[in-house]
Amino acid sequence: MFRIQDYIRDIKDFPKKDIIYKDITPLLQDPSATREALKKLLELLGDQKVHKVVGIESRGFFFATLLAQELNAGFVPIRKPGKLPFNTFRENYSLEYGEDVLEIHCDAIQEGEKVLVHDDVLATGGTAAAACKLVEKMGGEIVQCNFLMDLDFLKGRDKLNPYEVVSLVTY
Ligand code: PRP
Ligand code: MG
Repeated sequence: MFRIQDYIRDIKDFPKKDIIYKDITPLLQDPSATREALKKLLELLGDQKVHKVVGIESRGFFFATLLAQELNAGFVPIRKPGKLPFNTFRENYSLEYGEDVLEIHCDAIQEGEKVLVHDDVLATGGTAAAACKLVEKMGGEIVQCNFLMDLDFLKGRDKLNPYEVVSLVTY
């Protein structure tokens, strides 16, 4: 039986001391495991209509593009500042230490479009919450936020309260 946790590797003290990095490259290297993970995310979405799948830079891009293809939806990147070439909307968010910014192209989502937000990991929830704010400011309607994994002890779900949040494995 497919267990996504068998394809996620813990890297101690990366990118800095006392952080355990959840490395999904073993999953990405294995096409049948990637297909299984994709299938499970689609099952959790059910038959909800989706016009756009938003993927959050950078580790969110992998599965967001796959999801968009399967759903016959458009893929929309949300990126770190200064990476998107066209006009953008910006949203500040808090990190464990400090602040960061996310950007989206100003023509990426149309009023009333149904949007699936994807990232690899839900940790504190700051990143995904900022992405959701951007989508809603543009008039998008979030149908679900999905993740490969969530780190329950960081309480990220609390920041995504209004939305349906699903993940393939909880640590
Ligand atoms: C990681 C992860 C999520 C985010 C989760 O990304 O891929 O996007 O942190 O954290 P949060 O829930 O506490 O906001 P990171 O910023 O390390 O960048 P990357 O995806 O480019 O590696
Ligand atoms: Mg990320």
